Amino acid sequence: MNIVISGGTKGIGLAIAHTFAKAGFDLAICSRNAEDLANMQTEFKSQYPDIEVIIKQTDMSKKAEVLDFADFIKSKWETLDVLVNNAGVFLPGEIHKEEDGVLESQIETNLYSAYYLSRALLPVMLARKKGHVFNMCSIASFMAYPNGGSYSISKFALLGFSKVLRAEMQDKGIKVTSIMPGATWSNSWAGVDLPEDRLMQANDIAVSVWAAWNTSPSAVVEDIILRPQLGDL
Ligand SMILES: NC(=O)c1ccc[n+]([C@@H]2O[C@H](COP(=O)([O-])OP(=O)(O)OC[C@H]3O[C@@H](n4cnc5c(N)ncnc54)[C@H](OP(=O)(O)O)[C@@H]3O)[C@@H](O)[C@H]2O)c1
Repeated sequence: MNIVISGGTKGIGLAIAHTFAKAGFDLAICSRNAEDLANMQTEFKSQYPDIEVIIKQTDMSKKAEVLDFADFIKSKWETLDVLVNNAGVFLPGEIHKEEDGVLESQIETNLYSAYYLSRALLPVMLARKKGHVFNMCSIASFMAYPNGGSYSISKFALLGFSKVLRAEMQDKGIKVTSIMPGATWSNSWAGVDLPEDRLMQANDIAVSVWAAWNTSPSAVVEDIILRPQLGDL
């Protein structure tokens, strides 16, 4: 079994990587930082000696790099079980005030990344009529909130992508799950003055992904909504 995780070196992506590695999955990971990728590969090889970890430095906001990442995966693996479209960036702001270009850059990183990677890898899943795609959306995918700005627009769009893909894959044996987490400890929240238990842990998202993966072939978890126990921030 194997899993591709975009943006797997930190936060939620890293927690998902640990969860599937523990279960013996081979991993394909990308991020923009080559050193982080190499460190992660070394660490996982020592922690999970029986799995293969393949890495590629990729900026998921750039179409050519996304397609190179997909080609790299296809050159190493003939089959693919799980794809997690996780890479994303959060730039807080308000539509009427944010800098020019903020919408474009978040659409590229949060939406086009998933669109291009899925289009490139789906044929591998379709060949076996088997596979599972997870799209890391957000509470901001279905409700507006203060300082959501263009981030929220990009995540609404990603949820739209995810729902269209689910409908298209319904009779093709491929599961599609939209994950909508609320505030989860990660770099996005660095410097925020809040007690750690006010937010969710990245592992909370990972255990939900794992549970959704483990349904029988005749069931799909379409949507996962997770919030901090004390509600949204
Ligand atoms: N944390 C939350 O509260 C929260 C809530 C809802 C949804 N989400 C979503 O969950 C996903 C993961 O977020 P996180 O909180 O775990 O963030 P994180 O800790 O900042 O991790 C993001 C990961 O994505 C990579 N990444 C970022 N931009 C990239 C790019 N252009 N190309 C390739 N890799 C890229 C990062 O590595 P490099 O920076 O080295 O490239 C890192 O590995 C995102 O889509 C985010 O929108 C997060």
